[in-house]
Amino acid sequence: MESTRTKIIHLLSSNEKTYVSGQELSDRLHISRSAIWKHMKELEKDGYLIEAIRNKGYRIVKSPNKLSENTVQWGLHTDWLGKNVVHKESTPSTQQIAHQLARDHASHGTVVIADEQTAGKGRLNREWHSAKNKGIWTSLILRPAILPYLAPQITLLTATVLADVFKKELNLDPKIKWPNDIMINDRKVAGILTEMQAEQDQIQYIIIGIGINVNQEMNELPEDIQQKATSLRATSEKEYDITSLIQRIFVHFEKVYAEYETYGFPIIKERWESYGYRLGERTTIKTMKETSEAVLVGIAEDGALLAQYDNDSIKKVYSGEIDWFPNR
Ligand code: BTN
Repeated sequence: MESTRTKIIHLLSSNEKTYVSGQELSDRLHISRSAIWKHMKELEKDGYLIEAIRNKGYRIVKSPNKLSENTVQWGLHTDWLGKNVVHKESTPSTQQIAHQLARDHASHGTVVIADEQTAGKGRLNREWHSAKNKGIWTSLILRPAILPYLAPQITLLTATVLADVFKKELNLDPKIKWPNDIMINDRKVAGILTEMQAEQDQIQYIIIGIGINVNQEMNELPEDIQQKATSLRATSEKEYDITSLIQRIFVHFEKVYAEYETYGFPIIKERWESYGYRLGERTTIKTMKETSEAVLVGIAEDGALLAQYDNDSIKKVYSGEIDWFPNR
């Protein structure tokens, strides 16, 4: 159940530039005008800056500089993504909470966000360091109407969303390393972990876990990954507002998801390949069976990497070790 305060924030958020009168709030929430006034005082204690003008009403001028369900939703202009936000100050992993919520029928677009994860999960059972208030640690619950074998498309889509936001809104130069690492200056800045619950021909839900190193200084990244990881701050020497970055990602995600629903995977494939890390370069591919050399040329509909061999044949690579630095 939404609290009265959350409802007030929603009502004020949908009218960011205009004022909402005390009478309107009181009518819509079925509480007295003096109760509304008391809630406004509580919101101010939480760090909201609220303007109250006689005969006009209330307006939120600024939200507090910390993550919460309310601050993420205030000023978030999406139709379905982030309409339900679950925020935790600390949790083992947002993935776990998202699975539970999805099993309990949480709607498409519900998101879980944490300030800190104590047991963040990376791909291939690796650990994902998620320091308090230093990054974006979020899991999105999606219920796409696609066949389970096409689920990797949603991961690839997510990678293009992150790359677009870093490039177009933060002026950085991201690349996507197959399958879904976001790289800046040859170092990983963000990763995506997709988990799914499905039957043979139907997806029940997909959880897209997104981890972005945002405001860590280089020496704040764990030692074991310092050679290969970075943060947005370390690459640009700028600090970022985490809430506003989350909102930009959600808004852009919704836009790209709508394009995907309308036009299908080809537009995602084209965009992914435009960001593809070291595409067109010759690499060594080690699988269980053999080690071979090939040029990486793109991605397939099912998310596989396409490798072109010397006899011009193109094969799909689903897993295996790819040596991205054959000359180093
Ligand atoms: C990778 O290995 O590259 C994927 C990293 C995914 C990390 C995110 S952080 C939010 C969500 N919760 C987790 O425990 N993992 C994902």
